Amino acid sequence: MTNVFAGKNIILGVTGSIAAFKVAGWVSTLAKEEANVSVIMTDSARRFVTPLTFEALSGNKTYCSMFGSSDRDSMAHISLGREADLLLIAPATANTIARLANGIADDLLTTTALVTRAGVFICPAMNSKMYSHPATVTNIRKLKKIGYHVLDPAHGMMACKEEGEGRLAEWDDVAEYLAKALTEQEFIGKKVLITAGPTREPLDPARFLSNRSSGKMGYAMARSAFRRGADVTLISGPTALSCPTGVNRIEVESAQDMFDAVLKRSGKTDIIVKTSAVADYRPAKRAEHKVKKEQIEPHLCLKQNPDILYELGKRKTEGQILIGFAAESQDLRAAGMRKLKKKNLDLIAVNDISGTNSGFESENNQVLLLFSDGSVDLPHTSKQHTADLIWDKIVLLS
Ligand code: PMT
Repeated sequence: MTNVFAGKNIILGVTGSIAAFKVAGWVSTLAKEEANVSVIMTDSARRFVTPLTFEALSGNKTYCSMFGSSDRDSMAHISLGREADLLLIAPATANTIARLANGIADDLLTTTALVTRAGVFICPAMNSKMYSHPATVTNIRKLKKIGYHVLDPAHGMMACKEEGEGRLAEWDDVAEYLAKALTEQEFIGKKVLITAGPTREPLDPARFLSNRSSGKMGYAMARSAFRRGADVTLISGPTALSCPTGVNRIEVESAQDMFDAVLKRSGKTDIIVKTSAVADYRPAKRAEHKVKKEQIEPHLCLKQNPDILYELGKRKTEGQILIGFAAESQDLRAAGMRKLKKKNLDLIAVNDISGTNSGFESENNQVLLLFSDGSVDLPHTSKQHTADLIWDKIVLLS
């Protein structure tokens, strides 16, 4: 993935919750991504984890007090707040949330929060009764009004052996919101519809026709569009992947299901990206009961599926951008150009599936981009990086 964290000054405020140990892993990940992480700990946070843990992981001093021995230490709230690209407070206790909501500045973390003009992200972590108490609910509402981003805690079993809302959010989700905050919002206000994965064409209750698409390329396209500020709907065939953060996923099974889901939304969409590998044919009849193996052959009579992208090309509205994908093992340029024209596309990403380290299922891809008036050869790289490079080109079309 394009490294959005490299060189960014991220202040992590750690407050007194048992979940403090979890954010040690977050610091380690951010440091590996080459972010410059400075940790501020409250007094209660130091009862759970030592400052040394964060110093070792971040490679930077951990700040614990308003009043230090050096000039920089005694003005830390000013210098840290001024230089920050992001302030992340995790885990954030009910007490810290209350102090922040009321502008109380009685320690280094809360004063830094008042000084900084960078985005502030807050990850509450507490017992579910504390989280749902009207005082906490009111304070969180106030924080949102101020413009702080409060990320919902997860649901589950907590250290106090109660189950409910209040567990610290998962890093993968938090990381996506932070990455979005550090990314240029080129697609703000744009509705983007992406299809991903294979379709399954049922023969009977046990069997189906399908293909090797894993959905990785389409999900990477969705992740990258979310980061750039788009309102993303992902129409996905069956995959083993979890829904990317911030994306609205609609799960479908067959080509006909995908056709219906896409066509229902396409008119109100600014950019449509068809990454999915749609089955061209389906069994002409779906048997109600499992077909006996001796009778399979007569049941393998096929019927053509609708071509969703061709239909979208016909219905393309003024200013709408239509992007197709193609998986080809030979004559990439000629095959891609034929599809670009036939389906009335603005861009087609032709995936080279002649090798094993690209195309279906692989983590990486090798893609040739074709426009009506030119082409770009993308490097062999990860699917996430490929997606970022494709969106860089889509920006130029919009
Ligand atoms: O999912 P992964 O494992 O990450 O793999 C990614 C991928 C290789 C599947 C993907 O990047 C890719 O190349 N997708 C297109 C696969 C393909 O072969 O498409 P096609 O040549 O059959 O179709 C061309 C375009 O028309 C595609 O955008 C397709 O979504 C669309 N189409 C095709 C048939 C059909 N009935 N309806 C369609 O909309």
